[in-house]
Parts: sequence; structure tokens; C-alpha cells
Amino acid sequence: MAILSINQVNKEFQIPTGTVKALNNISLQVEEGEFICIVGASGCGKSTLLRIIAGLERQTTGTVLYENTPITEPSTERGVIFQESRLFPWLTVEKNIEFGISNSVDKLSKKELIRHYLNIVGLQEFRKAFPHQLSGGMQQRVSIARALINQPKILLLDEPFGALDALTKMTMQDEILRIREYQKSTMILVTHDIDEAVYLADRVVIMSSRPGTIRKVLNIQLPRNRNRNSADFVYYRDIIYQQFFKQEEPDFNYDI
Ligand SMILES: Nc1ncnc2c1ncn2[C@@H]1O[C@H](COP(=O)(O)OP(=O)(O)OP(=O)(O)O)[C@@H](O)[C@H]1O
Ligand SMILES: [Mg+2]
Repeated sequence: MAILSINQVNKEFQIPTGTVKALNNISLQVEEGEFICIVGASGCGKSTLLRIIAGLERQTTGTVLYENTPITEPSTERGVIFQESRLFPWLTVEKNIEFGISNSVDKLSKKELIRHYLNIVGLQEFRKAFPHQLSGGMQQRVSIARALINQPKILLLDEPFGALDALTKMTMQDEILRIREYQKSTMILVTHDIDEAVYLADRVVIMSSRPGTIRKVLNIQLPRNRNRNSADFVYYRDIIYQQFFKQEEPDFNYDI
């Protein structure tokens, strides 16, 4: 049974000048433990789809089932790391992480959990620092710890490394694979970095522009740790590039 089942989902937004169709007939089944990467051009509905899975937004039509039950609201079982930093600048690293913990956890266990996840993301010695005293990569690790602390079954990551330099990004990608190995969560990561998708994913979902539809789902059949320069890696990268830049037929003729 799929842990997540998305069936014929459409999403329309009302704006002052009319209706924006953000998602068009999206269907996807995600198995437990899978690493899914969603790639597509800006504005094709990636964040919208993630927000629907998180329970922060409702689809206009179609169904989205988590463990066979319709998603109607956010849940700690589905952790989210947002596209933009959502850390509280006035709270220290440990207080930011603590903020993510479900209220049902008692105080002593909270302390233990915070220590544990600070270690996982390698920020133990920065626990008393404020976000502005951290690098971009470190801030993103705080967000990851905050999302992981409730041990979500699914982790939803919206371009989590988009603002990082190339080297930090690669380190963070390895970090997320390590965490996944340890935590055994299902991962759905949105990116417009094709290399990132081939490096991380079991399956890459390629979306086309507005209204966002799924153009192709590609199985990446490469063992880990993946070599970004291997012929196989380049082969997958090329397939995605071709899909990415495949244009619909233009609806007008050129006069030459
Ligand atoms: N709350 C909203 N109200 C109205 N329109 C919205 C809203 N949220 C998203 N949209 C529209 O839906 C479309 C998809 O937006 P979305 O943020 O999902 O794109 P995206 O693929 O995540 O883009 P990016 O790569 O730039 O983050 C866009 O045209 C956007 O204008
Ligand atoms: Mg987005």
C-alpha cells in the first residue's frame, strides 16, 4: 500500500483578475521509504503540491490520501521544510528547535530530543546562538532538526538548499541522505536543480509549466553513493534536461 496516494488533483486559485490553474490532473503514488524529487520550472505548482500534501492547502478537486485517509489538516507525521527560512530570529537555535516539538512531549524528554537532534545536524556547540550568527547552511540544518524532531513519517522539503553555495549544497545533500538512512522517513523534495534530483532520488517527477502537470516519472536506478560524473549519472541528467526544456507546440506560426 502506498503511504501517499495523490489522485487526479486539480488546484485553482482565485485572484482579483480571475482564476489561476496551478495544478492539472496530478496523480502520484508514493511508497513508504521512497525518496521522491519533484523538478519543474518556477511557477509550475511544486510548492502548491507540497502544501497540499502537508495539509496547509486544499486541492480544488481530486483526492490526497495519507495512509488511506484523506489529508485535511497539517500533522506532525508530515514534517515540512519551507522554501524560505522560517526560523524565529529572536530565538536561539535550541529554542527554535524546541518550538517544533509536539506539546504532548514532557519537558525532560524535550531536552533529550533537542540534544539528540542538535547532534544529528552537528550544531551542538551552536545551541545558544541566534539565527543571524549562523551561516545559511547552518540555518537550514536548524530547520531540518526542527522538522525531524517529531520523527515525521514523511519529510516534505521545498527547495531546502536553493540559497546555498554549491559546496555547502553537496554537503547538505549527503547529510539528508544520512538522516534518511537513520530515520527511515519517506522524503519528497522539490528542487529545480536537476543534478540534485539525480543525486538524491529513487524517482524523479518532472513537471511541466502552468498549469502544472506531471510530464514524466523517472526511476533512477543507480546505487548509492552516486558519482555525479559517471556516464550513468549524465545519462539520467540528460533525460531530465530534455523533458525540462521540451516545449509544447507553439500555438502560432512564424513568418520567415
Ligand atoms: N495563495 C495563492 N494565491 C493565488 N495564486 C497562487 C497562490 N499560491 C500559488 N499561486 C499560483 O500558483 C502557481 C504555482 O505556484 P507555486 O508557488 O506552487 O509554484 P512553484 O513551482 O513552487 O514555483 P517556484 O519554483 O518559483 O517556487 C503560480 O502561478 C502562483 O502564482
Ligand atoms: Mg515554490
